[in-house]
This record gives sequence, C-alpha cells and structure tokens, in this order.
Amino acid sequence: MRRRLVVTVLVLLLGTALALALTSTLALRSTLVGQLDTQLAAASSRGGEVRPSEGGDRGNDGVRTLQDPGDGSRGDAAQPPPFLDVAGQRTGTLGMFVTDGTVQAAGYLDDAAALQTLDTAQQQALLTVPADGEPRTVTVPDLGDYRVVGVTQPSGEVLYTGLSMAEAQATEAAYLAIEAVVVVLCLLAAGAVAALVVRRSLRPLDRMAATATRVSEMPLHRGEVTIPERLAPQDTDPRTEVGQVGAALNRMLGHVEGALLARHASETQVRQFVADASHELRTPLASIRGYSELVRRSPEEVPESTRRAVERVESEAMRMSALVEDLLLLARLDAGRPLAREDVDLAALAVDALTDAHVAGRDHRWRLDVPEEGAVVVGDAARLHQVLANLLGNARVHTPPGTTVDLRVVPEPGGVRLEVHDDGPGIPGDLTPVLFQRFSRGDGARNRAAGSTGLGLAIADAVVAAHHGTLTVTSAPGSTTFTARLPASLSPATEPG
Ligand SMILES: Nc1ncnc2c1ncn2[C@@H]1O[C@H](COP(=O)(O)OP(=O)(O)O)[C@@H](O)[C@H]1O
Ligand SMILES: [Mg+2]
Repeated sequence: MRRRLVVTVLVLLLGTALALALTSTLALRSTLVGQLDTQLAAASSRGGEVRPSEGGDRGNDGVRTLQDPGDGSRGDAAQPPPFLDVAGQRTGTLGMFVTDGTVQAAGYLDDAAALQTLDTAQQQALLTVPADGEPRTVTVPDLGDYRVVGVTQPSGEVLYTGLSMAEAQATEAAYLAIEAVVVVLCLLAAGAVAALVVRRSLRPLDRMAATATRVSEMPLHRGEVTIPERLAPQDTDPRTEVGQVGAALNRMLGHVEGALLARHASETQVRQFVADASHELRTPLASIRGYSELVRRSPEEVPESTRRAVERVESEAMRMSALVEDLLLLARLDAGRPLAREDVDLAALAVDALTDAHVAGRDHRWRLDVPEEGAVVVGDAARLHQVLANLLGNARVHTPPGTTVDLRVVPEPGGVRLEVHDDGPGIPGDLTPVLFQRFSRGDGARNRAAGSTGLGLAIADAVVAAHHGTLTVTSAPGSTTFTARLPASLSPATEPG
C-alpha cells in the first residue's frame, strides 16, 4: 500500500509536469515562429526592393568561388543574390530569385555575415515552397530548418526569402533542458516527501497488525482468559481513518474478552453445580447404605422377599455411590484442580493394580511384565492407580471368563508406556469413535449386569491428559490394547490450572 500510494502520487505529478511542459513548449514554439515570421516578412520586403541585376554595395569576390557545380548555366544561376546584400539583413538569411522557373541567383549569409551561394539541392528544397506569401518550414540540406516565404513580385519574378530557425530551436532546446531538470528535481523531492508522509500515517497500521498477531497467538481456548493487549490512545484517534480502525480493534478485543470471561464463568458455574450436586449426594447415599445394612443384619426375623429387596437397595446404593464418586472426580479434573506431584513408580503401581484385578477376576488369566528397575514418573499416584484399575476392570468385566489379560510397563525415552492387552471379543465398532466420551458404553447384557456407567474410560483419559500424556486404543476381535503414554515429568510451564 505504501509503495502504491507513493507511486501513484509520482505518476500523477509526472503526468501533470509532462502536460505542462508540452503546452508551454508548444506555446513557446508558436511565439518564436511568429516572431520569426514577422522578421521574415520584413526581410522579404527588403529583398524585394533590390533586383538581382542591380547588385549590392558589397563586393562578392571572396565568396563567389565557393559554388561552381561545373554546369555553366547553373553556375550563373548560383550567383549569390545581391538582394541579401542590403542593409538590415541579418546572418542566417537566405534568398533566391527565380524568373520563369529559372534560378537567377541564390545564396545566404553565413555566421560571419559573408555571402555564400546555395547549391542545386538546396535550391530544389526552396522551390518546394509555393509562391503565395505564406511562411513555411523547410529543411535545407546542410543548413538546417528555415522559415521560407515565396513572394511573387509585380514583375512576375519570384523571390524566396528564408530565415534560419537555428536560434529559435536552440532557445526551445534550452528551455526543454531546464524544464527537464526542474521536473526531475521536483519529482525526487515529491517522492521523498510522499514516502515520508505515507510511512508516518500508516505506522499505526503496523502496530495494529502486531497487536492482532500477538492476540492470535494467545491460548484463548481454555481456562480463564483475559486479553491484556490494547492499542495505545495515539493509535485510536477517532478523527483519522486509521485511528477509527484502531478504536474498532480495541472495542473488538474488549468484546471478545468479555464474551470469553462470561463463557468461562458460566462453564465454571455448571462444573461447580455438578461437583456440588455429587458432593451433596454422598451423604444421603451413605445413610441409605447404612440403614439397609442395618436391616440386613438385624437379628429380627424379616420375610425373605423383604431381605432380598433390602439387599438390592444396598447394592444399588453402592453402585450409585461409585457413580457419584466418578462424577465428582470428573468435575474436579474439569476444573483443572492441581494434581499431586510426586515420584510415582508405575511398576509398583502396576503390581498393586494387577493383584487387585486378580483377586476380583479369578476366572481370567493375568500376566504382568514390568521392568525390574522400576519406571518412575512425576504425577498423582492415586489418579494413576485409578487409570490402571479402570483399564484392568474393563478387561475383566467386558470379556468372557478365561480371557488372558497382559499388563506391561515399558520405559521409553522421556516417559513410560502402559499397555493393557486382552484377547477378548474386542470393542464394538460403533463404540470406537466415542469410546472416551462420558456415558458411552456398550449395551450388552454383561454390561448391564456389571453395573456399567460409561465413565471409566472418560476418567482414565482425563487423568492421562492432566499428566500431559495420551491414551489410545486399538481393538479387533481377539486383541484389544489400551496404551497410555506418560511423560517422565510435568513441566511447570504446562501444568494445568
Ligand atoms: N477391554 C475391553 N474389551 C471390550 N470392550 C471394552 C473393553 N474396554 C471397554 N470396553 C467397552 O467400552 C465401554 C466403555 O467403557 P468404560 O468407559 O470403562 O465404561 P464402563 O466400563 O462403565 O462400561 C464399555 O461399556 C465396553 O463396552
Ligand atoms: Mg469401565
């Protein structure tokens, strides 16, 4: 834009200068030619008063020898005409006397005011001029441009008189040269000034672009967001167009910041509500469990159907408690609560988790593969234990008895890889894309019986993500593998919250 503005200004200026130069040069030329024509008329009338035969008062001896083409008649015709020799004729004047189409005399006054004869070619050039008294421009060979007028004398002879245009042309050339120099200097100055002014007035745009770039690089997608970037008042002057853009940019930034804060506030409210609701449900659930246990253990005789109903109440209350705990945990992870940061030996954690799974699932075959030297990462031991428990629990609950489950802990450069593999039936295909979403679960009879909630993998994924790791799955009938990659340390800069 900068370059375009400067170039436009220069092109406009150049166009104006050229138009001015052209018109003034044409005006100058017509004035000079007009002057020349006036002088020519005077010279012509002066010359007309002298007949070629009468001769002048100046001797021709010195110049007569110059032109003699060898043809006798022509030689006579090329005598310098005496009518040039009258007082008042200036240098550069040429004259030719023609009687009945025959050149009687032809010559010109050179720079030293000496008479010179015209050769045949020069005479021919003069003869192209009609003898009507109108001045015309003729290029005379070797002599240059002349204004020439042909006048028919009362005696019938024609007198051609010419005045050199050399002086007028020199004046015009000098004028053009001066004009060119002035135009070039003016253009240079105008270009420099225009570049300066344009750069000055567009500098706020640079600052706007820089501000916009910084904002676009800010992490606005999560957490509490403020946009501290604003343009300085000098760039938001509403009296200039650029300032109006700056002011609009500031308003937009304020608007975006307000919207993000409002959105974050409402998200926080929803999370807080879920957390509060889960928390509030814990106590009544504990009471229900307690009372049903009380009834179950009561020494008094209760009818069999009542006892079964109470047992059912107790087991459902336990399931609901687990669900509430899961919801509470997810709400806390969403809120970005800081995790514990301690050294966790995933090998030891895996041994614990597998022992628990073994106890719970005696019909499955459990295999463990951990490095002897251990595999330490920085993180939250309780949460990481939960990840293993959820994955092993799934491998137990969602596979038939006799399935083999492998748990491997593999140290990797920069972290640790956890793998839970089973040779069960695999994950239903339609479930795969939404596997890690909340409340997504297969709806087999086994699931319903096992009290499936669909929160286990969502929690595992959220915990691994909070440790800046990744949880992935590959599944086919006969081979399902969950892989969690955890970095060895949580760098302080990227810690959530
Ligand atoms: N190892 C596995 N083998 C087969 N299906 C699985 C396995 N792990 C998970 N699934 C499927 O993924 C669903 C979601 O698992 P999850 O989020 O832990 O919820 P839940 O276990 O409460 O059903 C399960 O309902 C089950 O259908
Ligand atoms: Mg589960």
